[in-house]
Amino acid sequence: MDGHCVSMCGSMFPMRILGIETSADETGVAILEATGSGEKDFKYKVLGNALLSQAELHTRYGGIFPNLAKREHGRNLVPVLMEALRLSGELQEGQKSADEDKLRELEKLLEREHEMFTYLSEFLRAYGKPSVDCIAVTAGPGLEPALWMGINFAKALADVWQLPLVAVNHLEGHIMVARAKDGVLIPIEEPAIALLVSGGHTELIEMDGWMRYKTIGATRDDAAGEAFDKSARLIGLPYPGGPEISRLAKAARVANLARTDILPRPMIQDMSFDFSFSGLKTAVKKIVDSWTPGLGTDDMKSALAREAEEAIVDVLLSKTSRAVESYGAKTVIVGGGVSANDYLRKRFAEEFHGGAHVLFPSAEFSTDNAVMIALAGYFHAEKKEFIGAAELRANGNLRLA
Ligand code: KG4
Ligand code: ZN
Repeated sequence: MDGHCVSMCGSMFPMRILGIETSADETGVAILEATGSGEKDFKYKVLGNALLSQAELHTRYGGIFPNLAKREHGRNLVPVLMEALRLSGELQEGQKSADEDKLRELEKLLEREHEMFTYLSEFLRAYGKPSVDCIAVTAGPGLEPALWMGINFAKALADVWQLPLVAVNHLEGHIMVARAKDGVLIPIEEPAIALLVSGGHTELIEMDGWMRYKTIGATRDDAAGEAFDKSARLIGLPYPGGPEISRLAKAARVANLARTDILPRPMIQDMSFDFSFSGLKTAVKKIVDSWTPGLGTDDMKSALAREAEEAIVDVLLSKTSRAVESYGAKTVIVGGGVSANDYLRKRFAEEFHGGAHVLFPSAEFSTDNAVMIALAGYFHAEKKEFIGAAELRANGNLRLA
């Protein structure tokens, strides 16, 4: 045996997980080496992390266009895999992974993904099997056509390299990576409340123990990230809108612009833990429509961006706070793309100062990536929760529990 375990191993030896993420518009592949059973003696090292964002391509649609995302994943997965392998020192040049018979078999498996098969077969003819023990792939939630690309890619690699597969819930990935710092998982006290805010999700989750989740609230329409993206689009800012809104909102605060248009805080008084953000976009639209066409000045745009950011953060903070109180939570974990927002981080830190311990992912891992998938995948692999290729399917609406 060569230092790390070969397959289906226990937790004594380091395990290497190849993580694959394609649930939205980021194509990600990462290789993680980890040891330990459960959270306490867990240690990890990111050997290689590669990510290719399609955001620029989707800009013209003002959001993610699912079939375009699918096509791009099909083109990007092989180069992104090669980059992750190269970074890990695992790009096995001068060898090959599959003979022509095996490739013909693969062609059938990937008959609907012809472009991906073309790139993959070239790769498999030229490079050998890397030293990894299992493949973890996002099974959902997300855009199904996009998810399927990652899943079919994972199945093909698992078949050729004879590796077990792990199906990962994308939301669990966001939660796990918020705790991952400097090669360990930051210890937390339960119960904990996780707020997951991304382009596709706004969920409040109660965690009463290790890997035990209960969804206590979710959005009834637009997700928080979508509210950022749609408000940005109405204001005339490019996709993804979150960072753009954040940039303008900061400018509005620095310039101390007057507060004229106060936006609604949808469902803030509602006693459930559910959210609704579609009314916000309507309110933003009404204001933009009231501007003389083409005359929305930079200051007007910045002031409105600040209002949108504050309205969204107010609602997220108020509901999270109430959940923390109701469940007596000792820890708050915030994850998903919107958790990159500086204003949200500042408000959460202030709100819970001296109270619940607040955890945010490092900026690099706030938005989608494959490290979080490999990380969550490890804890399932370590419990031998593998899935057969025939059972592994994309589920756009996959829930945590
Ligand atoms: O988690 P993520 O990368 O992908 C999904 O799973 O959807 O989240 C993407 C979302 C987008 O809506 C984007 O506008 C938002 O996260 N986002 C932000 C910021 N950075 C990304 N929203 C607010 N402020 C940011 N700094
Ligand atoms: Zn995400």
